[in-house]
Amino acid sequence: MDCKREIPVLISAEEIAAHIKELAARIAEDYRDSPGLTVVCVLSGAYIFMADLVRAVNMPLTMDFVRAKSYDGTTSTGTVRVELDIKTNIAGKDVLLVEDILDTGRTLLALKEIFLTRAPRSVKTAVLLDKPARRTAAIAADYRCFEIPDLFVVGYGLDCDEQFRELPYVGIFTQT
Ligand code: IMP
Ligand code: MG
Repeated sequence: MDCKREIPVLISAEEIAAHIKELAARIAEDYRDSPGLTVVCVLSGAYIFMADLVRAVNMPLTMDFVRAKSYDGTTSTGTVRVELDIKTNIAGKDVLLVEDILDTGRTLLALKEIFLTRAPRSVKTAVLLDKPARRTAAIAADYRCFEIPDLFVVGYGLDCDEQFRELPYVGIFTQT
């Protein structure tokens, strides 16, 4: 099995780092009067982006983790189920949901709606990548690092069957 075959670079580690720095500065500015910011990582794909983002945001915050699974049902919308929920009481707090990629948008929209039922002060979203060509759910990211075309990408946390998450860059995956 050729696990370490060459994956062509779409976005380099240096470009990612520069965009995260800019995004983090905007986030710190936008939340400077926040009564409490909880940054929620959507597992597993967002964990590397999350780790770099929170270390660049220069303000106090807390972190939590959620895991969701989407099922393709018979309806076109499908359903999203929370497999691992956050432990934080988010009532009155600002919540920033951090996701690796906004594709159809179903996962992030479902999570946002679930968290909005828990009386937070606000729920916003931050994504590393945005693939607008595939959007079916009515959601746009509040913060995003890169817009990309309709390609399947791996690396920097994103996987194909759990492989390639460890690549330090975002690369283009093609079936061999
Ligand atoms: P959505 O609910 O369709 O927006 O699903 C987003 C999820 O699909 C992401 O969290 C990823 O796990 C996965 N995904 C979508 N596009 C890609 C891709 O190009 N590479 C790897 N995973 C992807
Ligand atoms: Mg994911």
